[in-house]
Amino acid sequence: MEKIIIEGNHPLKGEVSISGAKNSALPILSAALLAETPSRIKNIPCVKDVETMLKIISSLGAKVERKGDMVQINPTTLSNPFASYEFVSTMRASICLLGPLLTKKGRAKISLPGGCAIGPRPIDLHLKGLKKLGAKIEIEKGYIIAYGKLKGDNVDLKGPFGSSVLATANIMMAACLAEGKTTIFHSAQEPEIVDLANFLNKMGGKIKGAGERKIEIKGVKALKGTEYTIIPDRIEAITYAIAAIITKGEIEIKNIIPEHLTFPLKKLKQTGATLHLFPEKTRVGAQERPRPLHLTTAPYPGLPTDIQPMLTALLCLCEGKSVVKEAIYPHRFLYTGELQRMGANIIPRKASIIINGVKQLKGAKLMASDIRAGASLVLAGLSAKGETTISRIYHIDRGYERLTEKLSTLGAKIKREPEKTPPPVSTENSQDLKHYVKAILTRK
Ligand code: EPU
Repeated sequence: MEKIIIEGNHPLKGEVSISGAKNSALPILSAALLAETPSRIKNIPCVKDVETMLKIISSLGAKVERKGDMVQINPTTLSNPFASYEFVSTMRASICLLGPLLTKKGRAKISLPGGCAIGPRPIDLHLKGLKKLGAKIEIEKGYIIAYGKLKGDNVDLKGPFGSSVLATANIMMAACLAEGKTTIFHSAQEPEIVDLANFLNKMGGKIKGAGERKIEIKGVKALKGTEYTIIPDRIEAITYAIAAIITKGEIEIKNIIPEHLTFPLKKLKQTGATLHLFPEKTRVGAQERPRPLHLTTAPYPGLPTDIQPMLTALLCLCEGKSVVKEAIYPHRFLYTGELQRMGANIIPRKASIIINGVKQLKGAKLMASDIRAGASLVLAGLSAKGETTISRIYHIDRGYERLTEKLSTLGAKIKREPEKTPPPVSTENSQDLKHYVKAILTRK
């Protein structure tokens, strides 16, 4: 196990290039299993979640080859539609294998994902959608067992917090090889859904409306492998933008699609940050303390919940009072306790926090509890006075490619070191998490 050590308070300068989107890569790699021939997918980020997905795909019998950022998936040897708890428990996104395996092989067995440090993450919409397409689904000993021949139908994915990104992906993939037409109502509109639809269409799929609230899919008999390049990671891009702003530096971000970040970039501008969009890059920086914001997370094109922890780190330093409301994962504030250990003034409320900005955070020993919580602590550490040590950085490695190297190139004093003693057991433990969530919910 390793930890990250940061000597903070150094403005970032220079240029950084954004890697491929993790949340596109995971469903697109699963979708490659739908084809009859191999696919070559480029711009695949070198992150732990992708590694896990590739291990699962290999364990299903498909052949996986990786060369740099290109991954080739050969699905012709796919034989075993069974994803075990061992893998799924480490990465909930493995659920997006359910649709492809079921529609391709007529059956699938996938472990139920279990607890999560950002709060409850049900999969009822995935199951409801697949059942509507005719799947028989049983839950046995912690596994989802799905079987049956799929037929197109109307599927409504409206959930309590809007739609679901991976349920939309699952149904879209399943419907590609189902007989007849499927219409998804209340589909997620995220750019990663559009990316997946583009990939499926390039394989011969017939999908219309991706990126809108209604997606229509005409089932086809077979799909052919193809070559495809996935979009850049919008969450990684915004993480570096905030790194520049929080350190009062200025950086240029390459391989970014600003149209995927219209709302978050507008919010960063409202904090007083400077922002210049060029065809090939985006320049972002700040000279002053951020102005406060009132924010609520929302499905795309609103403020992504995955950016909330990083924006919160920035708002800890605002001049005044900010309010951040979480409308996707109401319990996604576990990490704010760590920011408080750095001197942040955060008052938790039910599904929201009030932040009274302070002039400076102070370095401390911290623990990451999920990917974005980890990124938030890194950003806070970059701005803080003194040394910050972050343990459990395997969470960060799940979603960020070479984070410490990229930040070092921008002038950050950041390094990784082996952890001599294992970090103490934390709230990541689901039993502790239950108490934490209860405490938050009963707070006035
Ligand atoms: N929901 C349900 N029922 C379901 C599925 C979801 O009620 O069957 C609820 C969830 O509890 C949540 C909301 O719907 O309140 C949205 O969840 P969604 O299903 O959209 O999340 P996801 O598809 O499992 C993806 C990203 C997450 C990101 C969310 C929200 C991937 C691999 N993961 O998850 O990314 O937070 O969408 O945008 O695409 C991350 O990258 O760090 C990460 C957690």
